[in-house]
Amino acid sequence: MKSWAAIVLAAGAGKRMHSNTPKVLHLLGGKPLLAYPLQALERLSPARVVVVIGHGADEIKRVVPKTHNQVWAQQRQQLGTGHAVLSARAELKDFDGDILILSGDVPFLSDQSLSQLMETHRSEGCALTMAVASLDDPTGYGRIERGPQGDVRQVVEQRDATVTQRRISEINVGLYAVSAEFLFNALDDLSNDNDQGEYYLPGIVSMAARRGDKIGTVTVEDAREFRGINNREELAWMEKALRDEVNRSWMARGVSLKDPDTTYIDADVTIGPDSIIGPNTHLLGRTVVGSRCRIDGSAYITNAQLADDVHLAFSVVLDDCQLGSHVSVGPFARLRPGTVLAERVHIGNFVEVKNSSVGEGTKASHLSYIGDTQLGKESNIGAGTITCNYNGFIKSRTVIGDRVQIGSDTQLVAPVVVGDDTYIGAGSTITKDVPPGTLALSRAPQKHVEGWVERFRAKQTK
Ligand code: UD1
Ligand code: CA
Repeated sequence: MKSWAAIVLAAGAGKRMHSNTPKVLHLLGGKPLLAYPLQALERLSPARVVVVIGHGADEIKRVVPKTHNQVWAQQRQQLGTGHAVLSARAELKDFDGDILILSGDVPFLSDQSLSQLMETHRSEGCALTMAVASLDDPTGYGRIERGPQGDVRQVVEQRDATVTQRRISEINVGLYAVSAEFLFNALDDLSNDNDQGEYYLPGIVSMAARRGDKIGTVTVEDAREFRGINNREELAWMEKALRDEVNRSWMARGVSLKDPDTTYIDADVTIGPDSIIGPNTHLLGRTVVGSRCRIDGSAYITNAQLADDVHLAFSVVLDDCQLGSHVSVGPFARLRPGTVLAERVHIGNFVEVKNSSVGEGTKASHLSYIGDTQLGKESNIGAGTITCNYNGFIKSRTVIGDRVQIGSDTQLVAPVVVGDDTYIGAGSTITKDVPPGTLALSRAPQKHVEGWVERFRAKQTK
């Protein structure tokens, strides 16, 4: 295809969201709305992508990664969609090909719909080609008014429409293909004579019609594709639709979901075949689940990487961590950012691990806190072991070697190094490095007071 450019409109405040967050940053499937049209465009690789931002521009720039060929344009005052397109003009001043215009709040237009619009525009030699759709309930959308021959006359916004016009079921999707020349000439003549006093982009449609220019339309059939998101109810509807689709697609690829209705998988998550996902599981962000993993249920997992054959027992919270193959975690465990578990590690109930690496085959089965620690392989952390890593000012590291047996209720006061092949007696407070191959003990010696119980009881009952 000949080179073309794209303009994405994302400067509006999104008043109907009633939010301090700019509308296009609201999350859908774990990603900002704006990421969807940008990723579709990245796949179609236009010559240039101009994203018009205004409301919350700095935040948008911070959160949304810039895609290939993308530039930002500023619309300082939000005076309408037509005015927004004008704000992109400077970035396209040397471009004289065709331009695709998209809305940042319409996330699911497919690659096919976008390229079909451009192809129709070119093959039919139109001045302007627009995507349209038919809706049983067209409330809120701009309606397409056609003449007796079926030719498009104009787009009438909901709030400017008469009762008769509101009955029109054909709507403006808000996706257009136009030549740069036609577009910027027409925009110069746009008026703001409407209920909102805004410069409406669809005004270029009536201009083309008046001039007798050819207007093409492409009908988008799939209701989900053309839905715009203007309020929280629409966002929730979309989220549910996306979730159902994502869940179905994973099941089609060999993943079992015990209860799809309570399984929340973000758009960028991947899962290997023969994994079994229990109810009330959230797989969020860029989480990767390997093959044959079992997640029993009630798991909240964000940006974690699970290798193959991992077992997460009931109720675990995982954040930014990596789990090797055959690792088992839980029930009731928490892995915080920076946790890296090698193969066959076991983290049991009520264990918290943070910013720590754990070597192959090591186990911490019960009630422990492991923080800022480098833990070797084939070691065992007894119940109630705590790495004391924080003195109120700085965090210090604990290093534990290979084949170490740490007795229950041990405190390791960091910084401290526990050598390979050591034993630590239960109940110890370790403040000094432990040399390899030794037994370290710090508990007070046990003594027995003969006859104490009898004397004590006698005193109480006197
Ligand atoms: C728009 C169309 C409507 C169409 C609908 C499809 C107009 C006037 N109406 O209505 O015909 O049926 O989309 O979803 O175009 N924006 C800016 N700057 C502005 C105003 C808006 O960048 O000054 C951006 C918004 O951030 C948004 C997009 O343009 O991403 C569309 O604006 P919005 O206010 O949502 O238009 P709709 O009322 O949905
Ligand atoms: Ca909209």
